[in-house]
Parts: sequence; structure tokens; C-alpha cells
Amino acid sequence: MRWTSYLKLLVVIVVAVFPILLVTSSIALINTSPTSSASTLRELAARLGIHIGSAVSYSALTSDAQYAHILGQQFSAITPENEMKWVSVEAQQGVYDFAQADAEVQFAQHQHQLVRGHNLVWFEQLPTWLTGGTFTKAQLAAILQQHIATEVGHFRGDIWQWDVVNEPFNDDGTLRNTLWLNALGSDYIADALRWAHQADPNAKLFLNDYNIEGIGAKSDAMYALVKGLLAQHVPIDGVGFETHLDLQFGLPPMIKENLQRFAALGLDVDITEMDVRMSLPATSDDLTAQANVYAQLMQDCIAVPRCVDFTVWEYTDAYSWVPNAFAGEGAADIYDNNLAPKPAYDALIQALQEPVAPQVHGH
Ligand code: G3I
Repeated sequence: MRWTSYLKLLVVIVVAVFPILLVTSSIALINTSPTSSASTLRELAARLGIHIGSAVSYSALTSDAQYAHILGQQFSAITPENEMKWVSVEAQQGVYDFAQADAEVQFAQHQHQLVRGHNLVWFEQLPTWLTGGTFTKAQLAAILQQHIATEVGHFRGDIWQWDVVNEPFNDDGTLRNTLWLNALGSDYIADALRWAHQADPNAKLFLNDYNIEGIGAKSDAMYALVKGLLAQHVPIDGVGFETHLDLQFGLPPMIKENLQRFAALGLDVDITEMDVRMSLPATSDDLTAQANVYAQLMQDCIAVPRCVDFTVWEYTDAYSWVPNAFAGEGAADIYDNNLAPKPAYDALIQALQEPVAPQVHGH
């Protein structure tokens, strides 16, 4: 065959095959390029340098495969809801059981998630040997130090952020009258942070509380406390704003400004336990209003560079603590009882997709 014949044959082949190539490559494009609506919360949050977390219930994790699947797919951080608390790990003095918390940490590592450790010093969920015991000040300090050293030491290297002291304040901004404050005075907060730092120097250490999201007496008190701790070079890396909201009370005032003033001290400012409860049964207007509240908080987090984590306190109404604690209220989470996403989920996706004032996160 002469070369001109080869050329003609080549042209015929190219003309015939080109449309087929075009169609198949566009099908491939459609199939492989992630459309924005198909993106998960964790993918979208990662683009902004934010971790999106959920509390995790050990019983749900080990009995509900769909719950576990969504938790891994949508979230880049988890917080054990109860399994790292004192009564769970040291129900008997000096006898530690980390089995459930270890399983949660393993799940997180498998899913490439970070873990918030919750919590080391609190006034709730304490074992009866502790609440019912009679101890001197020195004994109680030794018990607290031992507990912190053992738990933080056990998880050394596996925990991103520890809630070292949980809920230290009353709503009026005075320190809460707890076992710890009564016996050890206000120094227990600085001591706990120092002991935690000794046990895992790389974990970020937090104080965590509720009703400190907006500016007011309680957040002013937290602000004064952390400023004082920083001045004394006590190891503290962040403040957790729990953000347990109720639709009937609306949003607390000046959340973004509040986060900014703590961030200006050089601290991380994370949303650590968000949910938005409402009276049941929930109407579709309620669910829309709830979605707006979630979106607003996400926008505030996105606008403040030191807000590096946005955690919901269980992602699904199926396992929410709310109905047990507030009679007649619930529907507080971003997935419903059947593990279907609610308008609040869509609102978070949208807030992450189209941030109003995106900032570079981290430090
Ligand atoms: O494990 C026992 C079980 O053995 C027993 O049969 C059952 C009977 O009531 O109780 C079980 O313990 C419960 C535990 O959750 C585990 O399910 C406790 O009664 C119950 O009080 C406990 O509630 C937890 C609550 O903290 C404790 O105060 C909630 O699940 C948990 O969501 C909630 O989380 C707190 C954060 O740690 C701190 N910030 C506020 C947030 C909401 O209250």
C-alpha cells in the first residue's frame, strides 16, 4: 500500500473513532469527578483546614453497622461520648479498663480520624468510691494526678485534644463547687493541665464548657481564667465551646466576636459538642430554623482561623442524649432517627461549600 493510502486509512479511523472516544471520556469524567453535591462533610471541611467531628457511642458503634459507616464516611474526628470518663475507665480505685475507649480509638485510626479525649476532670460521672470516699487534700490531689497520668499515658500519641477540665464554671461565672474545687481550691485546674502535659506533651489541652458560646458572664470568667493561666505559663492550647443550643432560646449574642477574643490569646477555639434541641414533634419550620443555626455556627467557625474543629454531640437523633435529659425535647442532631440526613446536614454542606468569609485555618 502506498503512503497516501495509509494516510487516507488513518483519517478514516480517526474520524470514526473520535466521537466514540469523546463519549467514553466524558462518561469517565462524569463518573470520577466528585460533583459538589456528592462530597462529604469531612471532604469539604478538610479543604478549609477544619476537622468535623461527632461524639461516638460505643454501643451504637458495635451494634449498628450503618451508624459506623456514616461516622467513618462523614467525619474526620470523633469524641468518645462516655467511654473515657472517670466512671468508665476507673470504676474501682486503681483498676483501669480502657477496652471500649481503645476500640473507639482503633476505629478512628482505621478511618483516618483524630480523637478528642473527653474528659479527665469533671464533677459528673465519677465513681462512687471517689464521691463517697473520705480523703485528705493530699490524698485527693494524688488520686487526681494518678488518674490523669494513667489515662493520658495510656493514650499517649493517640489523642489530638484532651478536655482536661470539663465544665468548671457556674452560669454566673463563679467556679463550680465541685469535689475538686472544695478539696483542692482553684489550683486544681492548673495542676490538672500540668499533669496532663507531662503525660503527653504533644496532646493539645483544653478547658471545655457550655453556655460560653456568646459574650456574657460565664464566657468572661473563662476568658479571665485562661488569660491568667497563660500568664503563668500553664500548658493550655484551647477552649472548647460545647454549643448545646435550644431552638426556643435562639442564638447566644456575639459568638464570632467571642471566639475571636479567645483566639487572639493564641488559643484554639473549637465547637466541641454542638446540638440544637427543640420541642417535639418537630415541624418542618423547626427543622429549617435548626438548619440555619447549624449553618451560622459553621460560618462563625470558618471565619475564625483558630476554630479547627466542629464536633456535633452525636450526629443522629437515634442516639442523642437530649430526650433522656429534657422531657418532650429532641430532634437535636443533623441526621434523623432513621439515619437519614436532615436539613441541618444540607445546611452544613452548603456552608462548607460556599463559605462567606473563608480564612486559612490552623496555626
Ligand atoms: O452505662 C450505664 C448503664 O450501665 C445503665 O444501665 C444506664 C441506666 O441509666 O446508665 C448508663 O449510663 C448512662 C451513660 O450516659 C451511658 O449511656 C448514664 O445514666 C447517663 O447519665 C449518661 O449520660 C451522658 C451524660 O453526659 C452524663 O452526664 C450522656 O450520654 C452524654 O451525652 C453526656 O455528655 C455530656 C458531656 O460529657 C459534657 N457536656 C454535656 C454533655 C451532655 O450532657
